[in-house]
Amino acid sequence: MTRSLRKRRDSMKQKVLVTREIPEAGVDELQKHLDVYVNPEDTPMTKDDIIHAITDTQGLVCMLADRIDKEILDAAKNLKVIANYAVGYDNIDIETAAHKNIYVTNTPGVLTEATADLTWALILSISRRIIEADHYLRTGRFRGWEPMLLLGTDVHGKTLGIIGLGRIGQAVALRARGFDMKVLYYEPRRLPEKIEQSCHAKYCSLSELLKTSDFVSIHVPLDKSTFHLIGTPELDSMKKTAYLINVSRGAVIDEMALVKGLKNRVIAGCGLDVYEREPNVEQELLAMKNTVLLPHVGSASHATRDRMALIAAQNIIAVLIRKEEPPNWVHKDIQI
Ligand code: DGY
Repeated sequence: MTRSLRKRRDSMKQKVLVTREIPEAGVDELQKHLDVYVNPEDTPMTKDDIIHAITDTQGLVCMLADRIDKEILDAAKNLKVIANYAVGYDNIDIETAAHKNIYVTNTPGVLTEATADLTWALILSISRRIIEADHYLRTGRFRGWEPMLLLGTDVHGKTLGIIGLGRIGQAVALRARGFDMKVLYYEPRRLPEKIEQSCHAKYCSLSELLKTSDFVSIHVPLDKSTFHLIGTPELDSMKKTAYLINVSRGAVIDEMALVKGLKNRVIAGCGLDVYEREPNVEQELLAMKNTVLLPHVGSASHATRDRMALIAAQNIIAVLIRKEEPPNWVHKDIQI
């Protein structure tokens, strides 16, 4: 790290710090214009490492696992733009960044379909016991077809409740057509009829959605209004046969309440890609058969991650090279 950092200081180009290896497409694009330092380790940078590396850096490409807080922003005396390599940006202190005239950007749109696909992977895996079935076979227990083997729950014809009908929620809803499902959605405010019609989704209150859905899928950003949106009272109001799916942010669900709910069989199970205290996962969830647990891989397809890398690079280049507002500026409403 020291040699690369020294090399960077020698360059006259503006500097960009990339906190973790990302697809080459993005790094190549950045390198055409800028002096780029990519963390060579296969681990996240520590806060101290980021603080040390960021002092003479104009651009930062960071990951959702990097907590970019006031302390880091205070150290980033020359920073002009942050490109979060994710659509969600709850890991960044947006207010402080805005007050310091630092643009914050994300990677919307390009990961919609991959994340919607993964949502369906979770829906199907948990209801049809795919992980359990795979494990069963691999551990040598398959004795041939059996009438009562690994029976699960039907998906087709059931009710899917989508909390948050944004881009990803809509893509999830569209896929439900193929399963002949009834789709309900909840948003704090009802969406235009055109969107409802294109998604074949019916608006309802959160309590109605929780009470009537067979699958509840969460697609909201994490902020003050969605923190622990699903806790004990919400879980208690769901059908005992229902499944909860989350590919948004872990802290939208009170994870301890979920553990309790699953233990008490308040709901049938859950499929999670995200956790309240990543990378830590409540131990009790790991021991449960009625959970499918993925390591935050919603957008993890080659093509999607390539596009995310390019978008992150374009946001950095817009600000540092073209001296323009970045295309995916997330806090336009906060004065910069
Ligand atoms: C995002 O972009 O916010 C996703 O969680 C990353 O997979």
